[in-house]
Amino acid sequence: MSRIAYVNGRYLPFAQAKVHVEDRGYQFGDGVYEVCEVMGGRLIDERRHLERLKRSLGELSIRMPMSTHALGIVMHEVVARNRLDYGIVYLQITRGVARRDHAFPSRNVPPSVVVTTRTLNKTRNEALAEQGIAVVTVTDNRWGRVDIKTIGLLPNVLARQTALEHGARDAWFVDSHGIVTEASSANVWIVTSDRTLITRHADNAILRGITRTVLFDAIKAEGLTVEERAFTLEEAYRALEAFITSASQIVLPVVRVDDRIIGDGKPGPVAIALRRAYHSYAEAG
Ligand code: PDD
Repeated sequence: MSRIAYVNGRYLPFAQAKVHVEDRGYQFGDGVYEVCEVMGGRLIDERRHLERLKRSLGELSIRMPMSTHALGIVMHEVVARNRLDYGIVYLQITRGVARRDHAFPSRNVPPSVVVTTRTLNKTRNEALAEQGIAVVTVTDNRWGRVDIKTIGLLPNVLARQTALEHGARDAWFVDSHGIVTEASSANVWIVTSDRTLITRHADNAILRGITRTVLFDAIKAEGLTVEERAFTLEEAYRALEAFITSASQIVLPVVRVDDRIIGDGKPGPVAIALRRAYHSYAEAG
């Protein structure tokens, strides 16, 4: 079956799904995106993802191209047309197509909207979670507003590539104070020796992950203790467990950070329990 993408009002076969060379997303990275998990053909946490999208657009003064309700309909339609059972739906909105000029174009320029889907391999994802992943650390050299989910992801791309070149699966960003901020496309959590979960507080230095937000409900319901605060790489090295969270991986255990083994080198009970529990606390639509 050929893949279908939504591009500016039309559902098109992938080969014809194109945006203009003067799209500001292409030229300046002037746009935002969302990634939503799809399970059993249903969108997971769609409402929260669309709320965050609206916020990201607002922070960059890009107007909403249509209501969140209409965007939701488009996302569902792309999922249905691709008969997607398990995977992700990707939504991107840019400031539109205009002659290349750094300043914003006229308000009449409509934002560009693209929606695509991708199938994920459930068996492979489960196998990865059962094994846990290795990460390396890199300097967090990103701009000061990574709370906005912009498509400008060059430091994240370079971080992930560094990880792969060092035989790891992902990279953690560490700031100039030795604080772990987040991973290249996920939030970071550790479990300390007194079994407290720690994840960095959400300010401008991390993306407030939707998975992260929903996980707080799961943590409370499971009777676990959580603290939202900065933690150092040294603390992470000494942690009982570590894991990352994102829409595409949900809860993914981390068993090695740089050359340090975390805990006993296997996914820990907290990460495993939270991965299993997650979808009871998420919204499926
Ligand atoms: N990334 N931090 C960063 C830098 C991210 O790119 C992401 C998500 C997250 C987790 O957010 P959420 O739980 O809402 O997915 C944190 C997506 C999955 C991506 O870029 O593919």
